[in-house]
Amino acid sequence: MAKQKPAKHNKSAKAGTPEDGMALPERLLAWYDCHRRRLPWRAEPGQRPDPYRVWLSEVMLQQTTVPTVAGHYDRFLARFPSVERLADASLDEVLHAWQGLGYYARARNLHRAAQAVVADHHGIVPEDPEALHALPGVGEYTIAAIRAIAFDRPANVVDGNVERVMARLFALETPLPRAKAQLKRLAATLVPDQRPGDYAQALMDLGATICTPRSPGCLGCPWAKPCLARKAGIAAELPRRAPVKLKPRRHGVVFWLERDDGAVLLRRRPESGLLGGMIDVPSTPWELDAPDARSALRHAPVATAWRVLPGEVSHGFTHFDLELRVMAGRVEMARAPSGLWSKPSGFHRHAFPTLTRKIVRHVLGTARGGTKRGRQATLRAHSG
Ligand code: ADE
Repeated sequence: MAKQKPAKHNKSAKAGTPEDGMALPERLLAWYDCHRRRLPWRAEPGQRPDPYRVWLSEVMLQQTTVPTVAGHYDRFLARFPSVERLADASLDEVLHAWQGLGYYARARNLHRAAQAVVADHHGIVPEDPEALHALPGVGEYTIAAIRAIAFDRPANVVDGNVERVMARLFALETPLPRAKAQLKRLAATLVPDQRPGDYAQALMDLGATICTPRSPGCLGCPWAKPCLARKAGIAAELPRRAPVKLKPRRHGVVFWLERDDGAVLLRRRPESGLLGGMIDVPSTPWELDAPDARSALRHAPVATAWRVLPGEVSHGFTHFDLELRVMAGRVEMARAPSGLWSKPSGFHRHAFPTLTRKIVRHVLGTARGGTKRGRQATLRAHSG
């Protein structure tokens, strides 16, 4: 299919379906009025959206699915019902309330941004793109979403769902990610001056419920008639994607060290970098080659009798997969290294990222329910 020129689909050219007399945005808005999803963060028709709620939902939805966010949003909002309350909370409280949503850098940024909104904008979420851009964690997409949904401004809100809808509507066969800029330009040609906030949310709903990745429900689609990919019979094949590179796999060993009072040694990660400032368990560096027991033990927090627990903990990060083996050891109070010690009964007081929770589950599960064979296979190793 030939590349489409955005100019052909601009508002003055009245993109859409001249034969049925209704422009694309109007057709989508009419569909939205009947089929809009009720979502915890979404204002009811006629209600004025609360910019703080919109901002919060957009941050949560950045790397997390709608059902997961729906399960956390009300609880978080009940705890921090306003920008001021969020700004006044401690970072630990915020991280704790963020548990289950992942990508904790978003929570840190949100907390810092709330403090900036209180300090610089009297606690009122700004509408101005420059002012929004100055807030930690608020990028181009979030600015557009806040401006459209909270302030009903004609902003071009383009995420993966919208890219898919545009690729199909215009039958753009250029593969992602190369097609991104062009899809954004095409999307921009459709943003209406009337009800731009509803339009942005309607596009999200269309992408989530009708124009889905694998089997688009073209029969119920308000844009079925003008959709060029449907006409060409290739809707389900778009957007095309450049072949994905395989993620590298890293390996490491974590050291589960128990003091004789039952406390376990934890570690706070450096503020910058992966899981910045979050709590995990001391470990070797995570490297492409799995360390053997000897080289792993050079990183052990103390010299003691370490035993390798059966099984592994796997975790997927954006840019690599991680596989961790666990070594468990004990140490007397008098020889225990200084650090962050916590008894498992007090773990709930910390904001653990998913990886740490997986490690805890693995160790405590192994200790409680590990198979006899597994325990017999445990090998003993001494750090020097
Ligand atoms: N994805 C990103 N933002 C969203 C929103 N406001 N509603 C539904 N899905 C979304």
